[in-house]
Amino acid sequence: MSKDWWKKNAEDIPVLVTEPPGPKSRVMHENTSKYMKGLSSQVKLFPVCFDHGYGITLTDVDGNKYLDFSSGIYVTSLGHCHPKISEAVAYWAKKLMNIHDFTTPVKEKLMEKMASILPGKLNAIQLYSDGTTAVEAAIRAARAISGKHEFISAFRDFHGKTMASVSCAQMYRGQTHSYGATRAAGFYMVPRPDPYRPLWTKADGTIDTDAYIAFYENFILEGTVGNVAAFVLEPVQGWGGSIFPPEDFFPKLKQLCDRHKILLYDDEVLAGMGRTGEWLALSHWDVVPDIVTFGKSFGNGFPVTAMVVKEENGEALEKISASSSYGGNPMACAAALASIEVIEEEDILQNVREVGQFFMKRMAKMKEEHPIIGDIKGKGFLLGIELVKDKTTKEPFDLAGKLVYQKAFRKGLAWIPAGHILRMSPPLVMNEKYASMGLDMIEEAISEVEKEHGY
Ligand SMILES: Cc1ncc(COP(=O)(O)O)c(C=O)c1O
Repeated sequence: MSKDWWKKNAEDIPVLVTEPPGPKSRVMHENTSKYMKGLSSQVKLFPVCFDHGYGITLTDVDGNKYLDFSSGIYVTSLGHCHPKISEAVAYWAKKLMNIHDFTTPVKEKLMEKMASILPGKLNAIQLYSDGTTAVEAAIRAARAISGKHEFISAFRDFHGKTMASVSCAQMYRGQTHSYGATRAAGFYMVPRPDPYRPLWTKADGTIDTDAYIAFYENFILEGTVGNVAAFVLEPVQGWGGSIFPPEDFFPKLKQLCDRHKILLYDDEVLAGMGRTGEWLALSHWDVVPDIVTFGKSFGNGFPVTAMVVKEENGEALEKISASSSYGGNPMACAAALASIEVIEEEDILQNVREVGQFFMKRMAKMKEEHPIIGDIKGKGFLLGIELVKDKTTKEPFDLAGKLVYQKAFRKGLAWIPAGHILRMSPPLVMNEKYASMGLDMIEEAISEVEKEHGY
């Protein structure tokens, strides 16, 4: 199959036949939300109803056709309905949908393929059907491997919404994610370095990674009972706003973990499988984790996720039973296998690196020219633009975030910001032409908001 499969369909975008969200979208959204409650803020802010997607485009029920800068929610990373992946799922949907934990030919191939692409003997694998369940399995695996039971995670990381996964994440004062009074016992959080908003700096004003590591070391000694099984971290804070750590953070954290015999669990559900130009985002810093989880892009839209540990720890997984009703079903294995093959066949990692550089150059220029762009963040296709009221005080500009989101959507950009950091996760097949088109829409929206607010 040609790697240009998506291009013809994208030639006419954006197509706006009515101001979105159009009349059909509004009615369908209203009917749905009579019953469906707790919708995410992006949906409430822009109640559009989608009809179909192909490649880098999405079309709503009113006939508006958008450029996709979201990949669902970091999920359909190889484009909507990639023909090879859709056909692979359809083949098994007609042949064998579910056969519990038994081996199937497609599972055999997926296992071999995963072992061939993952670094450092990360080849003891379990399969699940959502990211959160894979995270829960990773927590159990860390306990089984280490015989210890405490966990340290980081402020503003996100790992899911079940009890252990939410205990590793921000709880919004017990209101939304956990709806409980406290996190589970033995789960602690520490600040992680954000180069734009550092807690500790060196004499030259740049972020002081050593100070963070020294604090963690102190915390392990003073704040835990000395039974820390793992550090649980996203390689890049995705939901938190595409926040990348300083270059020396993960190498130094790994050394700290090794000194204290603590496992490093790298949650790549959002950042992994090519989004940053590497199979694992952590590979940018030459660090191999002890445990890793994949989701979202792993099946390009089909619900399939994975939890992987090093070969030497594979036996410990016997203690946490891999069995689940849907994990590793033939359709799921087919979607994951086809997705990995597409990344290889279409040279996706190289495209992500090249177009990723284009994104960053263009965003750097935008930052120079716009008073409300405080910072830009990114590697590959995991990108963010941080909006502030004032570049000196760095006060977050939440209202601008909402307005830019709505305005750019109205121009034909389907995307996902939440809050003052504009998050972008375009499909990894995208070329510079469409990268530029999307950034044009965002820049126009930013200019309009600046004008309306007297900048
Ligand atoms: C880093 C990370 N881990 C875990 C999850 C949970 O995945 P899921 O929504 O598939 O349960 C997410 C979801 O956004 C995520 O970003």
